[in-house]
Amino acid sequence: MLVRIKEMLEQVEHLTANSAEDIEALRIKYLSKKGEITALMNDFRNVPAEQKKEVGIKINELKQRAMEIINDLKQSVAQTDTEEADIDITRTAYPIQLGTRHPLTIVKNEIIDIFSRLGFSLAEGPEVEDDWHVFSSMNFAEDHPARDMQDTFFVEAHPDIILRTHTSSVQARVMERQQPPIRVICPGRVYRNEAISARAHCFFHQVEGLYVDKEVSFTDLMQVLLLFAKEMFGEDTKIRMRPSYFPFTEPSAEMDVSCTLCKGKGCNMCKGSGWLEILGCGMVHPNVLELNGIDPTKYKGYAFGMGIERIANLKYQVKDLRLFSENDERFLKEFEAAN
Ligand code: PHE
Repeated sequence: MLVRIKEMLEQVEHLTANSAEDIEALRIKYLSKKGEITALMNDFRNVPAEQKKEVGIKINELKQRAMEIINDLKQSVAQTDTEEADIDITRTAYPIQLGTRHPLTIVKNEIIDIFSRLGFSLAEGPEVEDDWHVFSSMNFAEDHPARDMQDTFFVEAHPDIILRTHTSSVQARVMERQQPPIRVICPGRVYRNEAISARAHCFFHQVEGLYVDKEVSFTDLMQVLLLFAKEMFGEDTKIRMRPSYFPFTEPSAEMDVSCTLCKGKGCNMCKGSGWLEILGCGMVHPNVLELNGIDPTKYKGYAFGMGIERIANLKYQVKDLRLFSENDERFLKEFEAAN
């Protein structure tokens, strides 16, 4: 009898079950009226009197243990059941969470797309630049305030190495390695030492354009920019040029577009004027052509430059520049539809 009890205990200790049905089958097998442990207990009356005490204790231990084990199995199966319930088997096997394109990338691509349809190709250059490509080759006088500490980030060990303040440096790099005809747009990040606020940041993004060829006029420039404005802001968009100054263009202008919100009637966004400034432009200064190895008696050019943030602000009415660099998912998700 003691041997049978021991064997049964061995068995019981190694029970496993995967489902509630398995467990019920085990309960029936061992503990029901016709179960094996119950049968052992029924045999108890045949145990000789001198063994009864020992056998009685062992058999009770066996029953106790069997009940415990079956209960434990029940609990663990119940747990896996709820875990299973949490698994959504209708989900795709590879749940690829698609991100959204950054609004500045969307606008940059749109600008590139418009100008590439007009025959401009893409040119890129380094963000850490030398003074020559950012300033000297662009006809900045030695004492021009833009070279000042307040505007430019210097790489400390090298007073000559700076973070580019505009992508005109890429224009310089194109001209030094290529003779006209030149037709490029230069998108990229630029840096200026400004206090960060809703309206200014220490870095932002630009797209600049350069066109150099034999017969190039200010009218060509205006025509291209009018087309750009219509493509970007809508067919009924108007442009106007206001005289301005840049060291690298002469004559220079700033271009406004009719307000994208009120269509020129005057509103809060355009401060009642009906116009919004969007870019700087002009005819490439002969000095710039010469400094970059292009003969200004043979060739002329125009150039323009715009801030991508500015265009995105006007298109999407983003009130705070800082939103563009904070990576707040709630902001980025708003551009899902524009992707
Ligand atoms: N480089 C100028 C800027 O950073 C923009 C510009 C480019 C103006 C080309 C005129 C012509 O502000």
